[in-house]
Amino acid sequence: MISIAHLSMNLPAGGRPVPILQNLTLDIPDKQMVAVVGPSGSGKSTLLGLMAGLDRPTTGSILLDGVEITTMSESALARFRRAKIGYIFQSFHLIPTLTARENVAVPLELSGERRADARAADLLAAVGLAGRLDHYPVQLSGGEQQRVAVARAFACRPPFLFADEPTGNLDSATGTQVIDLLLSMHRDYGTTLVLVTHDRTLAGQMQRIVSLRDGRIESDQLLPDPNRTTGFLR
Ligand SMILES: Nc1ncnc2c1ncn2[C@@H]1O[C@H](COP(=O)(O)OP(=O)(O)O)[C@@H](O)[C@H]1O
Ligand SMILES: [Mg+2]
Repeated sequence: MISIAHLSMNLPAGGRPVPILQNLTLDIPDKQMVAVVGPSGSGKSTLLGLMAGLDRPTTGSILLDGVEITTMSESALARFRRAKIGYIFQSFHLIPTLTARENVAVPLELSGERRADARAADLLAAVGLAGRLDHYPVQLSGGEQQRVAVARAFACRPPFLFADEPTGNLDSATGTQVIDLLLSMHRDYGTTLVLVTHDRTLAGQMQRIVSLRDGRIESDQLLPDPNRTTGFLR
Protein backbone atom coordinates (compact mmCIF):
# COMPACT_ATOMS: atom_id res chain seq x y z
CA MET A 1 0.00 0.00 0.00
CA ILE A 2 1.17 3.49 -0.86
CA SER A 3 -0.31 6.14 1.38
CA ILE A 4 0.35 9.79 0.59
CA ALA A 5 -1.01 12.54 2.82
CA HIS A 6 -0.89 16.31 2.45
CA LEU A 7 2.13 16.15 0.19
CA SER A 8 3.57 19.44 -0.98
CA MET A 9 6.71 20.21 -2.92
CA ASN A 10 8.10 23.69 -3.47
CA LEU A 11 11.09 24.21 -5.71
CA PRO A 12 13.09 27.39 -6.12
CA ALA A 13 12.64 29.16 -9.43
CA GLY A 14 14.36 32.51 -9.89
CA GLY A 15 15.23 32.58 -6.21
CA ARG A 16 11.78 32.08 -4.74
CA PRO A 17 9.98 28.80 -3.99
CA VAL A 18 7.28 27.80 -6.47
CA PRO A 19 4.64 25.22 -5.52
CA ILE A 20 5.02 22.11 -7.70
CA LEU A 21 2.76 19.76 -5.74
CA GLN A 22 0.07 21.15 -3.47
CA ASN A 23 -1.45 19.27 -0.55
CA LEU A 24 -1.85 16.03 -2.42
CA THR A 25 -3.49 13.05 -0.72
CA LEU A 26 -3.67 9.63 -2.40
CA ASP A 27 -3.88 5.96 -1.39
CA ILE A 28 -2.84 3.17 -3.73
CA PRO A 29 -3.70 -0.37 -2.62
CA ASP A 30 -1.31 -3.29 -3.13
CA LYS A 31 -1.05 -4.61 -6.68
CA GLN A 32 -3.02 -1.78 -8.22
CA MET A 33 -1.92 -0.48 -11.62
CA VAL A 34 -2.23 3.30 -11.75
CA ALA A 35 -1.64 5.74 -14.59
CA VAL A 36 -0.66 9.28 -13.63
CA VAL A 37 -1.58 11.66 -16.44
CA GLY A 38 -1.70 15.42 -16.91
CA PRO A 39 -0.20 18.23 -18.93
CA SER A 40 3.54 18.76 -19.13
CA GLY A 41 4.73 20.52 -15.99
CA SER A 42 1.77 19.39 -13.85
CA GLY A 43 4.07 17.60 -11.41
CA LYS A 44 3.87 13.97 -12.56
CA SER A 45 7.60 13.24 -12.49
CA THR A 46 8.01 15.10 -9.23
CA LEU A 47 5.28 12.99 -7.63
CA LEU A 48 6.74 9.74 -8.96
CA GLY A 49 10.25 10.64 -7.77
CA LEU A 50 8.92 11.42 -4.29
CA MET A 51 7.00 8.13 -4.09
CA ALA A 52 10.16 6.26 -5.08
CA GLY A 53 12.24 8.06 -2.46
CA LEU A 54 14.45 9.73 -5.08
CA ASP A 55 13.66 13.13 -3.64
CA ARG A 56 12.18 14.61 -0.44
CA PRO A 57 9.01 16.65 -0.18
CA THR A 58 8.69 20.07 1.41
CA THR A 59 5.92 18.79 3.67
CA GLY A 60 3.66 15.78 3.93
CA SER A 61 3.88 12.06 4.41
CA ILE A 62 4.55 9.06 2.16
CA LEU A 63 4.11 5.57 3.60
CA LEU A 64 5.18 2.52 1.62
CA ASP A 65 4.06 -0.70 3.30
CA GLY A 66 3.49 1.41 6.40
CA VAL A 67 7.03 2.81 6.43
CA GLU A 68 7.47 6.60 6.35
CA ILE A 69 10.09 7.26 3.68
CA THR A 70 10.22 11.07 3.80
CA THR A 71 12.16 11.18 7.06
CA MET A 72 14.43 8.15 6.59
CA SER A 73 18.20 8.59 6.68
CA GLU A 74 19.92 8.43 3.29
CA SER A 75 21.46 5.04 4.02
CA ALA A 76 18.22 3.52 5.30
CA LEU A 77 16.39 4.91 2.29
CA ALA A 78 18.99 3.45 -0.09
CA ARG A 79 18.53 0.02 1.49
CA PHE A 80 14.75 0.37 1.41
CA ARG A 81 14.79 1.37 -2.28
CA ARG A 82 17.03 -1.58 -3.15
CA ALA A 83 14.67 -4.03 -1.46
CA LYS A 84 11.30 -2.56 -2.38
CA ILE A 85 11.44 -0.24 -5.36
CA GLY A 86 11.96 -0.60 -9.09
CA TYR A 87 12.15 2.46 -11.32
CA ILE A 88 12.00 2.78 -15.09
CA PHE A 89 13.00 6.03 -16.79
CA GLN A 90 11.89 7.40 -20.14
CA SER A 91 15.50 7.45 -21.29
CA PHE A 92 16.39 3.92 -20.10
CA HIS A 93 19.33 4.97 -17.85
CA LEU A 94 21.38 1.84 -18.41
CA ILE A 95 25.03 1.94 -17.34
CA PRO A 96 26.85 2.43 -20.67
CA THR A 97 30.04 0.61 -19.65
CA LEU A 98 28.19 -2.57 -18.64
CA THR A 99 26.65 -5.23 -20.86
CA ALA A 100 22.93 -6.00 -20.76
CA ARG A 101 23.56 -8.93 -18.46
CA GLU A 102 25.80 -6.86 -16.15
CA ASN A 103 23.23 -4.06 -15.99
CA VAL A 104 20.59 -6.52 -14.78
CA ALA A 105 23.04 -8.26 -12.43
CA VAL A 106 23.96 -5.06 -10.55
CA PRO A 107 20.84 -4.84 -8.33
CA LEU A 108 20.96 -8.61 -7.79
CA GLU A 109 24.57 -8.44 -6.61
CA LEU A 110 23.76 -5.49 -4.35
CA SER A 111 20.97 -7.53 -2.77
CA GLY A 112 23.36 -10.41 -2.08
CA GLU A 113 22.12 -12.80 -4.78
CA ARG A 114 24.88 -15.38 -5.35
CA ARG A 115 23.78 -16.49 -8.77
CA ALA A 116 23.33 -12.93 -10.05
CA ASP A 117 24.75 -13.69 -13.50
CA ALA A 118 22.52 -16.68 -14.11
CA ARG A 119 19.44 -14.85 -12.76
CA ALA A 120 20.22 -11.88 -15.00
CA ALA A 121 20.43 -14.15 -18.01
CA ASP A 122 17.06 -15.73 -17.10
CA LEU A 123 15.46 -12.31 -16.70
CA LEU A 124 16.81 -11.15 -20.05
CA ALA A 125 15.49 -14.31 -21.68
CA ALA A 126 12.08 -13.54 -20.15
CA VAL A 127 12.07 -10.14 -21.87
CA GLY A 128 13.10 -11.71 -25.18
CA LEU A 129 16.76 -10.75 -25.09
CA ALA A 130 18.47 -14.12 -24.66
CA GLY A 131 20.52 -13.31 -27.73
CA ARG A 132 21.73 -9.93 -26.45
CA LEU A 133 23.32 -10.78 -23.09
CA ASP A 134 26.76 -9.45 -23.89
CA HIS A 135 25.69 -6.41 -25.89
CA TYR A 136 26.44 -2.96 -24.54
CA PRO A 137 23.62 -0.38 -24.42
CA VAL A 138 24.92 1.44 -27.55
CA GLN A 139 24.64 -1.84 -29.44
CA LEU A 140 20.93 -2.15 -28.57
CA SER A 141 17.89 -0.44 -30.06
CA GLY A 142 15.76 1.83 -27.86
CA GLY A 143 13.16 -0.89 -27.38
CA GLU A 144 15.82 -3.42 -26.45
CA GLN A 145 17.40 -1.01 -23.98
CA GLN A 146 14.03 -0.41 -22.35
CA ARG A 147 13.45 -4.17 -22.09
CA VAL A 148 16.81 -4.47 -20.30
CA ALA A 149 15.64 -1.65 -18.00
CA VAL A 150 12.39 -3.56 -17.34
CA ALA A 151 14.33 -6.74 -16.53
CA ARG A 152 16.59 -4.74 -14.21
CA ALA A 153 13.66 -3.02 -12.50
CA PHE A 154 11.95 -6.36 -11.78
CA ALA A 155 15.16 -8.24 -10.93
CA CYS A 156 14.73 -8.11 -7.15
CA ARG A 157 10.95 -8.60 -7.39
CA PRO A 158 10.19 -5.21 -5.84
CA PRO A 159 6.69 -4.74 -4.43
CA PHE A 160 6.59 -1.23 -5.94
CA LEU A 161 7.42 -0.33 -9.50
CA PHE A 162 7.45 3.23 -10.83
CA ALA A 163 7.77 4.06 -14.51
CA ASP A 164 8.08 7.61 -15.85
CA GLU A 165 6.87 7.70 -19.48
CA PRO A 166 8.46 4.30 -20.18
CA THR A 167 7.32 4.38 -23.81
CA GLY A 168 8.02 8.08 -24.36
CA ASN A 169 11.16 7.49 -26.43
CA LEU A 170 9.85 4.48 -28.35
CA ASP A 171 7.84 4.11 -31.54
CA SER A 172 4.33 2.81 -30.97
CA ALA A 173 4.95 -0.84 -31.93
CA THR A 174 8.00 -1.05 -29.67
CA GLY A 175 6.14 0.84 -26.95
CA THR A 176 3.36 -1.74 -27.11
CA GLN A 177 5.90 -4.55 -26.60
CA VAL A 178 7.32 -2.81 -23.54
CA ILE A 179 3.83 -2.29 -22.11
CA ASP A 180 2.82 -5.89 -22.71
CA LEU A 181 5.96 -6.83 -20.86
CA LEU A 182 5.12 -4.55 -17.93
CA LEU A 183 1.59 -5.99 -17.78
CA SER A 184 2.83 -9.57 -17.80
CA MET A 185 5.49 -8.84 -15.15
CA HIS A 186 2.77 -7.18 -13.07
CA ARG A 187 0.62 -10.28 -13.46
CA ASP A 188 3.46 -12.66 -12.52
CA TYR A 189 4.91 -10.67 -9.62
CA GLY A 190 1.86 -8.86 -8.24
CA THR A 191 3.78 -5.57 -8.25
CA THR A 192 2.07 -2.29 -7.43
CA LEU A 193 2.63 -0.29 -10.62
CA VAL A 194 2.51 3.50 -10.92
CA LEU A 195 3.16 4.73 -14.41
CA VAL A 196 3.32 8.25 -15.83
CA THR A 197 2.17 8.46 -19.41
CA HIS A 198 0.86 10.73 -22.14
CA ASP A 199 -0.46 7.73 -24.02
CA ARG A 200 -4.22 7.32 -23.61
CA THR A 201 -4.20 3.72 -24.82
CA LEU A 202 -1.59 2.86 -22.26
CA ALA A 203 -3.40 4.73 -19.48
CA GLY A 204 -6.56 2.79 -20.44
CA GLN A 205 -4.77 -0.49 -19.72
CA MET A 206 -4.25 0.44 -16.08
CA GLN A 207 -6.90 -0.01 -13.37
CA ARG A 208 -7.02 3.59 -12.34
CA ILE A 209 -6.21 7.01 -13.80
CA VAL A 210 -5.09 9.88 -11.58
CA SER A 211 -4.97 13.22 -13.41
CA LEU A 212 -2.79 16.05 -12.17
CA ARG A 213 -3.14 19.71 -12.99
CA ASP A 214 -0.95 22.43 -11.51
CA GLY A 215 0.32 20.08 -8.83
CA ARG A 216 -3.12 19.00 -7.64
CA ILE A 217 -5.27 15.96 -8.30
CA GLU A 218 -7.85 17.03 -10.85
CA SER A 219 -9.58 13.66 -11.14
CA ASP A 220 -9.19 10.11 -9.89
CA GLN A 221 -10.99 7.46 -11.88
CA LEU A 222 -11.29 3.70 -11.43
CA LEU A 223 -11.55 1.86 -14.74
CA PRO A 224 -13.77 -1.16 -15.25
CA ASP A 225 -11.80 -4.40 -15.08
CA PRO A 226 -11.25 -5.57 -18.68
CA ASN A 227 -11.14 -9.19 -17.50
CA ARG A 228 -14.64 -9.06 -16.11
CA THR A 229 -17.43 -9.37 -18.62
CA THR A 230 -20.02 -7.35 -16.74
CA GLY A 231 -21.16 -5.55 -19.84
CA PHE A 232 -19.18 -2.33 -19.58
CA LEU A 233 -18.45 -1.03 -23.04
CA ARG A 234 -15.28 1.03 -23.35
N1 LIG B 1 14.65 20.83 -9.97
C1 LIG B 1 13.68 21.71 -10.25
N2 LIG B 1 13.79 23.00 -9.87
C2 LIG B 1 12.81 23.89 -10.13
N3 LIG B 1 11.66 23.58 -10.77
C3 LIG B 1 11.49 22.32 -11.18
C4 LIG B 1 12.49 21.31 -10.95
N4 LIG B 1 12.02 20.14 -11.46
C5 LIG B 1 10.82 20.41 -11.99
N5 LIG B 1 10.49 21.71 -11.83
C6 LIG B 1 9.24 22.33 -12.24
O1 LIG B 1 8.19 21.65 -11.61
C7 LIG B 1 7.06 21.56 -12.45
C8 LIG B 1 6.64 20.11 -12.55
O2 LIG B 1 7.66 19.37 -13.16
P1 LIG B 1 7.50 17.81 -13.47
O3 LIG B 1 7.16 17.09 -12.22
O4 LIG B 1 8.72 17.40 -14.19
O5 LIG B 1 6.23 17.82 -14.42
P2 LIG B 1 5.70 16.71 -15.45
O6 LIG B 1 6.45 15.45 -15.22
O7 LIG B 1 4.24 16.60 -15.17
O8 LIG B 1 5.94 17.27 -16.82
C9 LIG B 1 7.46 22.16 -13.77
O9 LIG B 1 6.95 23.48 -13.79
C10 LIG B 1 8.96 22.18 -13.71
O10 LIG B 1 9.47 23.26 -14.44
MG1 LIG C 1 7.72 14.34 -16.44
